[in-house]
Amino acid sequence: MVGVEAFYRASMTHTPTPDQDVTADASPDAHAPDAPTGALGSTPSMESESYTHGHHESVLRSHRWRTAENSAGFLLPHLRSDHRVLDVGCGPATLTVDLARHVPEGSVIGVDASAAVLESARELAAGSGLANVSFQQANAYELPFDDDTFDVVFAHQLLQHLSDPLAALREMKRVAKPGGIVAVRDADYAAMTWYPDSAGLTEWNELYHEVTHAYGYQADAGRRLLAWVQDAGFDPAQIVPSAGVWCYSTPADRAWWGGLWAERCIASNFAVQAKESALADDVALEQLAQEWLRWAEEPAGWFAVLNGEVLARA
Ligand SMILES: C[S@@+](CC[C@H](N)C(=O)[O-])C[C@H]1O[C@@H](n2cnc3c(N)ncnc32)[C@H](O)[C@@H]1O
Repeated sequence: MVGVEAFYRASMTHTPTPDQDVTADASPDAHAPDAPTGALGSTPSMESESYTHGHHESVLRSHRWRTAENSAGFLLPHLRSDHRVLDVGCGPATLTVDLARHVPEGSVIGVDASAAVLESARELAAGSGLANVSFQQANAYELPFDDDTFDVVFAHQLLQHLSDPLAALREMKRVAKPGGIVAVRDADYAAMTWYPDSAGLTEWNELYHEVTHAYGYQADAGRRLLAWVQDAGFDPAQIVPSAGVWCYSTPADRAWWGGLWAERCIASNFAVQAKESALADDVALEQLAQEWLRWAEEPAGWFAVLNGEVLARA
């Protein structure tokens, strides 16, 4: 069997697609699994309640692939060049920086609970030459901004990691200007699909659901976004739901996606939480990692991630 670390090193030699940044390194603490916090761990902290993925390099590697085009297409037609935008839970901020390019006379502020990931975000922004993007450490439940501040408030892949997504949506609505846009997008793990059939990947998907459930999060957020936005008090007549798909099917995509999930299974906060909640041990996690590597080597391997999307007027 190919060892996960060896495969990971090999997968890093593939030619990345143009929007894949596999060279940028993470912040100093990003190579150690984040300490778990929250329901089954220690006291919840500002770092996030118990962010399932953490900020291990294998996690950041997937976030850094994201661009405004491949992840915020539902929002782009609504952006005006002078808009003031807030990106909540911005992570390493490839999306945040891209959004800043779309509002050259406006500005974008990225906020995240993790100080470490914001260091990485600031490095990216500094290298972009853009002067209209900045970052602040903040909790999605208590955004440090006045009411009615932003034209657009965006959160990408955040709500699935919160125990109270409605409270975060109400807070996003509060800081949006009346008539401004609140835009959210989240994956739906039960709707992920792949080829060829793999009992191992099915087990991985089941374990992911069990771990997130144990910590009080909703892995199938995508299908629930419309309901959450309605329940958070947005005008139903001003809500536009949609869906978008990421698809990984080229040899380079498979090496990247399979390799990073193999590594996440053994080295990210997901592994820490799976063990802490007694849902898996090291042997089981290593087996899941091997299943990901096997899938990545399938010449006809194909994987799709369905994302729910909602645009609403504040
Ligand atoms: C899956 S990542 C998404 C990052 C980025 N939006 C993207 O799509 O690439 C979720 C991010 O939300 C942050 N986060 C988790 N809980 C948070 C909270 N309560 N307040 C602010 N950020 C939070 C995490 O630190 C993490 O960087």
